[in-house]
Amino acid sequence: MTQQRAKSFYIHTFGCQMNQADSGIISALLQNEGYAAASSEDEAGIILLNTCAVRENAVERIENYFQHLQGLKKRRRGLLVGVTGCIPQHQREKMFAVSTAIDFLAGPDTYRALPSLIEQARAGARLAALDFNAAETYEDIDPQRESSISAFVPVMRGCDNMCAFCVVPFTRGRERSHAFNSVIGEIRSLADSGCREITLLGQNVNSYSDPEEGRDFADLLTAASLAAPGTRIRFTTSHPKDINERLIRAIAAHPNICNHIHLPVQSGSDSMLALMNRGHTIGEYRSKIEMIRSIIPDVAVSTDIIAGFCRETEDDHRKTLQLLSDIRFDSAFMFFYSTRPGTLAERTLSDDVPEPVKKRRLQEIIDLQNEISAGLFQASVGKVVEVLAESVSRRSSEQLMGRTSANRVVVFDRSGREPGDLVEVEITGATSATLIGQVVHR
Ligand code: SAH
Ligand code: SF4
Ligand code: F3S
Repeated sequence: MTQQRAKSFYIHTFGCQMNQADSGIISALLQNEGYAAASSEDEAGIILLNTCAVRENAVERIENYFQHLQGLKKRRRGLLVGVTGCIPQHQREKMFAVSTAIDFLAGPDTYRALPSLIEQARAGARLAALDFNAAETYEDIDPQRESSISAFVPVMRGCDNMCAFCVVPFTRGRERSHAFNSVIGEIRSLADSGCREITLLGQNVNSYSDPEEGRDFADLLTAASLAAPGTRIRFTTSHPKDINERLIRAIAAHPNICNHIHLPVQSGSDSMLALMNRGHTIGEYRSKIEMIRSIIPDVAVSTDIIAGFCRETEDDHRKTLQLLSDIRFDSAFMFFYSTRPGTLAERTLSDDVPEPVKKRRLQEIIDLQNEISAGLFQASVGKVVEVLAESVSRRSSEQLMGRTSANRVVVFDRSGREPGDLVEVEITGATSATLIGQVVHR
């Protein structure tokens, strides 16, 4: 292997936006040490899989990929394979047994060790760096960014919530907030360099607390909006138990903060929410939605649902369907429950809803939500919306794809517009997941 190839890396990213942001940090850390980002796997001497452990068969899902890497290693002598992110952090004992193709492992708090792991792996060692470090935020690292139009800015890492089904507290460790001024500085410099949309990231952004002066997420969002007045500001994820009126008023007061709130509810049944350790009831959830809608009338709310959690009855399931019909979420991420090793549910409850039942319930949830989303989409035909053009459409180079403030995807004929432009678009039609529009010429 040439020296040049030995020093080039390629990262495959799985999982949530936080993991995508971490891939940018890994990339910057390696480039600071003299490594170069390869444009494809074919050119790389180091391949990293930045992995997600949140749902079923997390390891099995990447196993096929290891077979491919095994073959690649035979053909490309000296190729190194590293697995980073949530899977190795969660299943450290198991990982090396999964495939002989793996040379090294690193977790979300140990990315600074990667250059040294790579060097030692080159010398023939097989090793892992998986200690938690509750002080690590990578705030001093200027991440590599994929797009000049939109950017993720993590505002916290880790999670202290311990929802019974969730592996994240075990893969990402204790919650820690980034320093207020460092976040705002990053936002200002992104805005100065022409970035049009910034998404603030955290597993539960509502529990953000400035380590220096204790300012909260409403303060941070307000300061972000003022630091980047020409840039759209988004944030995710909010937790229903912590979202409050102060935050909603901050969103309403600043036009560049998008009118979209992702507020995972998981289930429509109080007994499920209690077993899930979510810390709120459905009554409380409904009143928060009412509060949000009364303060921001054109707000879009999306959610996450888990079907078939432990002990879920048909009655619990019907309550979820009822909640979806009543609230009419803009969109939802819907999953069936799968036990994650080490979680509270895995240790204390039995995964007792049979798989066919889980899948049937999930399908009913998906069918209902699709109908609701389609209805909401159809109702927006004829309206004029502001769309941030993100990219050329996959279907045609004559069309652009972008999003509304409410996070709805819109495809429209270019009419001379470029990715990065904010465009007034009249909605002319809708499919189940996409709005179709036409540029409004003024
Ligand atoms: N911190 C965020 C994201 C957590 S993971 C939040 O609190 O919303 C994203 C979603 O994955 C969760 O909201 C949940 O709906 C789903 N999920 C997490 N663990 C799961 C499991 N064991 N089985 C099925 N879905 C799960
Ligand atoms: Fe998981 Fe709950 Fe934390 Fe979200 S808030 S990451 S679901 S433990
Ligand atoms: Fe994200 Fe998956 Fe880890 S959702 S936090 S990459 S387990």
